[in-house]
Amino acid sequence: MPRIRSLAGLKAATMACRECPIGQYATQSVIGEGNPKARLMLVGEQPGDQEDLQGHPFVGPAGKLLSQALEQVGIPREQVFVSNALKHFKFELRGKRRIHKTPTQREAAACLHWLADEIALVKPEAIVALGSTAARSLVGRAVPVMAARGQWLDREDGRPVLITLHPSALLRVPPEDRDAAFTAFAADLAKARAILR
Ligand code: URA
Repeated sequence: MPRIRSLAGLKAATMACRECPIGQYATQSVIGEGNPKARLMLVGEQPGDQEDLQGHPFVGPAGKLLSQALEQVGIPREQVFVSNALKHFKFELRGKRRIHKTPTQREAAACLHWLADEIALVKPEAIVALGSTAARSLVGRAVPVMAARGQWLDREDGRPVLITLHPSALLRVPPEDRDAAFTAFAADLAKARAILR
């Protein structure tokens, strides 16, 4: 496998990737974006419907919540690098709607080397894992996200990984609990602010 030397190279290589079955159905690959030399990287699960169509990470409803929470805790989104564990959108067709499907462990494992390339290019000091797929890909084992949220775990390469929920979990919370869930999510993210100094 050729070594990836740039984010443009990563985009091209992931566009052609068929190491798991997801890529052939997606519109395009979506790699991370933001400050290419960011001290802090945030990793979600996989691009969603909007991300797949637009080619940019976290631009749909979950991305808007993420941006709001980052802004609230004083982490400018343009200072960080935002990516995903998987680079293609996995979905199921229901009529004309494309419904998100959780990737299998095998699919996440197949994509891991692209995430490793991205981390090697950006060289963040620390990473935020948004949800369980990201946590598993980053830490190398299953992480009970609700129990571990707000905690820093270590990656094999020594980088600390802050565990929190995926912002799309906030979209599934009953409306009356949503403010509290958002506040708790923002409080988790605030623990990463010191990395920016
Ligand atoms: N969910 C993710 O995990 N990533 C995105 O880019 C969008 C939604």
